[in-house]
Amino acid sequence: MRVINFGSLNVDHVYSVEQFVKPGETIGSQAYQKFVGGKGLNQSIALARAGATVSHAGSIGADGAMLRNVLMDDGVDVSSVFEVDQPSGHAIIQVDPAGENCILLHGGANQCNAPDMIDSVFDGADPGDMVLLQNEINDLPKIINHAAEKGLTIVFNPAPMSRDVLEYPLHNVDYLILNQTEATALTLEDNVSKVLETLGEKYTNVKVILTLGSEGAVYQDTHQTICADAFPARAIDTTGAGDTFIGYFLAELARGASIGTCLKTACKAASICVQRAGASASIPYKRELEICGDQS
Ligand code: RIB
Repeated sequence: MRVINFGSLNVDHVYSVEQFVKPGETIGSQAYQKFVGGKGLNQSIALARAGATVSHAGSIGADGAMLRNVLMDDGVDVSSVFEVDQPSGHAIIQVDPAGENCILLHGGANQCNAPDMIDSVFDGADPGDMVLLQNEINDLPKIINHAAEKGLTIVFNPAPMSRDVLEYPLHNVDYLILNQTEATALTLEDNVSKVLETLGEKYTNVKVILTLGSEGAVYQDTHQTICADAFPARAIDTTGAGDTFIGYFLAELARGASIGTCLKTACKAASICVQRAGASASIPYKRELEICGDQS
């Protein structure tokens, strides 16, 4: 099964800070690094490093050659990454000593996917393909409906969460992968059991994967609920951990692994990611999971 990931590509400007900057405050940073990122690009790299066949679709500016090149270096098909007349998307990321992050996005080219470009992505899709989407590009309702009309398996990660998501045709989605903040915004519940119950009621046939950080992850469909523990890790930068989880979960799913294995492998990959700096740069290769054994 091929994964078509229609998603963002960003340049990440990452600043190490003692504390996140507050309103009206000016602070200095301890370190600065530039990485490639974007939830879309990160998830394509995680899929590829986990062994999946992945095509990335999206838009970059004239300044975005390195975004395309990084995907190619990991074996991702970039024939649907197009250049538009806008700068590439970028993110300003603060990382604190606990590894937590705070992200400011500018969509740029990610918000400029043209209607004919969207059509061309789906013209090239095969019935068995899976379409992966995040909430960092334009025209998502159209894209979700287009994928549904073609009968493709649709996976949606509503990150970053926005009010618009409440209006998206989520009944057309097959898998919803989200964290607790996103789930609370969708359900207005903050207790995990209540969140899962409400998601199950609102989106009846949607399979839900709820990520819980250091508490692991839960899968729920109409027949079963399966939980997985997180792997112990000393986090230095959590940026990209959710993207790593998603790439590994879907790569395992695409190769026919059980849901329990998908969750466990994804948790393990995310635990390695948080122990390194950067987003795409911190995503492990599958062989690294094998070396780590079960106590990464
Ligand atoms: O999930 C992490 C990503 O979010 C970063 O790479 C940044 O670009 C934003 O899209």
